[in-house]
Amino acid sequence: MVTLTINGKLVRAREGEMLLDAIRREGIEIPATCQHEAVEPYGACRLCTVEITKADWGGWKNHVTSCLYPVQEGLIVSTHSEDVIRIRKTILDLFLARCPNAELIQNMAAEYGITRTSYEEVPDGNDCILCGLCTRVCDKMGFQAISTVGRGHGKEVAPPLGEAPPDCVGCLACAQICPTNYIKFTDDGTTRTIWGREFELVKCETTGQPTITKEFAAYLVKHRNIPEDYFTRCDSAHREELAKTMGRITHWGRQEEA
Ligand code: SF4
Ligand code: SF4
Ligand code: FES
Repeated sequence: MVTLTINGKLVRAREGEMLLDAIRREGIEIPATCQHEAVEPYGACRLCTVEITKADWGGWKNHVTSCLYPVQEGLIVSTHSEDVIRIRKTILDLFLARCPNAELIQNMAAEYGITRTSYEEVPDGNDCILCGLCTRVCDKMGFQAISTVGRGHGKEVAPPLGEAPPDCVGCLACAQICPTNYIKFTDDGTTRTIWGREFELVKCETTGQPTITKEFAAYLVKHRNIPEDYFTRCDSAHREELAKTMGRITHWGRQEEA
C-alpha cells in the first residue's frame, strides 16, 4: 500500500493502481470520458488531468492524466486546482467545437461554465469524441472490426474502407460502451443492423424473443466454451429454468428432512 494526499486528505491506495481509481474511491468527481473498467486506460481525452507534486519537489508541479498515472508514496494531488480547471475548460471548449451537438460534452462543458465554444465549430461536427472506447472494446473482444481512420477534423471511427466490416459479429459492445451514443444500430425482429451490416438474431425457443446474433453465438461457443444450445433460450427463459430447478432442489430438501 502507498499513502498519498488527495485534495488535502491522506489516502491509502494499492501499489500499481491508477490515480483516477484512488480519486474516485474518495468520491471526487472528475471527467474521464475515455476511461472504462472494461478496457485498458488510453489517455485520449485528457479530461482526467490532475495536478501533482511532492513535498521534496521544491514547489514544482506537474499535470498528468490520472487514468494513466500510478499512485506513488507521498504524492500530493489536486483535482480542482486553478490550473487544472483551466486545462479542463480548454479541452471541453475544443470538444464543443468538434462535437457541438454531443449532449455529454454540452453537459460537461456547462458544469465548467462553458455554453458556447470559443473556437470555430467543425462544420458537420458529429458526436464522436474519439475516445477510442469502441475500438478498444472491439479489439479486446477479439474482433478488431473497426478502427480510427482519417486525420484532423476528418478523423472518425469506421470499419475498414468504410464498408460493412467482415470481422464484425454484431455483439453491440461498441455501441453500448460509446459515451455519446454515436454508434447506431437497429434490431428489427430477428434482424440486427450495425456498421452497415445485417445480422440474423438467434430466436429463443421458449419465448420467441431474439437473443444474440448467430455470428456472436458461434464465436462464444467456439472461444468461450459456452454450450451450443445456450443461446436458443433468452434470459427470462434461463431465469425461469433456474427458478424451476431451485424449486425442485428445495422440494427434494424438504422431502429428505421429513
Ligand atoms: S458490434 Fe462489431 S464492431 Fe462493434 S464491438 Fe461488436 S464486433 Fe466490434
Ligand atoms: S464512436 Fe463513441 S466510443 Fe467510439 S470513439 Fe467515438 S465517441 Fe468514443
Ligand atoms: S480518462 Fe484519462 S485521458 Fe481520458
